[in-house]
Amino acid sequence: MANVKKAFVTGWPVDHSRSPLIHNYWLKKNKILGEYLKRPCPPEDLQQFLTNLEHEGFVGGNITVPHKEAAFDLVDKTYDAAQTLEAVNTVWLGKNGLQGTNTDGYGFLANLDDRHPGWDSEINRNKAALVLGAGGASRAVIYALMGRGFSEVVIANRTLARADALVEHFGPPCRAIEIAHAVPGELSPAIIINTTSIGMNDQKSPLDLKGFASTTIVHDIVYSPLITPLLAQAGEFGMPIVDGLGMLLHQAVPGFEKWFGIRPEVDEPLRKILLDDLGEAP
Ligand code: ATR
Repeated sequence: MANVKKAFVTGWPVDHSRSPLIHNYWLKKNKILGEYLKRPCPPEDLQQFLTNLEHEGFVGGNITVPHKEAAFDLVDKTYDAAQTLEAVNTVWLGKNGLQGTNTDGYGFLANLDDRHPGWDSEINRNKAALVLGAGGASRAVIYALMGRGFSEVVIANRTLARADALVEHFGPPCRAIEIAHAVPGELSPAIIINTTSIGMNDQKSPLDLKGFASTTIVHDIVYSPLITPLLAQAGEFGMPIVDGLGMLLHQAVPGFEKWFGIRPEVDEPLRKILLDDLGEAP
């Protein structure tokens, strides 16, 4: 079995991860002799796990919660978004040791490009983007929006101090508000993005959309349920909506390419596999 390339996803816990479904689909579709495995790892063992990758026969893997920040400090070299976000979600063994990058922002952009082409038109870029939440996911989204040239990124969070800290980190064009102040009279964003965990398991919506323009694109990075209460309300108001499943699928693309040498495609059969697993089949 010497030619079988192995990759992993590690987290604590990692049972919930859907990454094996994605990568094992691409391995099969591209007829690659490879494996993608779950490797749970408690925080105190992460350093040892990452040090032993080559010995364990891994070419690389994904890092998920709660290890993304710790992994940033443990890899030998970081690239691109990882440097700004100070968090790593994808690693691979290279000539100079363990390399790390962060593909969350890439996944966010590729999903919007795919599901709503033109979302970042010049007209929209000249308006604000409203980002709900100020955690790790919010950081990746803000970085991505800035890369696309949005002239204003409003970060709305329950705890204002966390949004303020992101404004300090990213600088202009970001500004911070309390989420309770994210009301249509004050703001007319081109796009609203929920990065909080509200909406998961059918909880309430993080924001009342009443009064926002019907052209406002509403995107939720929560993908379970696929149509969160926020997206359901947006749909009732005739606003364009983008669900979060594609972000999960697209963020996986660069890692697969690094480990297995082929850039995989996010196609409808893959989306269907994930929808089935989420219990979202039509
Ligand atoms: P992640 O890294 O996945 O983004 P996180 O760092 O725990 O997760 O951030 C979660 C985000 O969801 C935060 O913006 C959090 O708001 P606070 O900073 O005020 O905690 C937000 N959030 C979670 N539950 C919330 C709730 N019930 N009401 C409002 N905001 C909530």
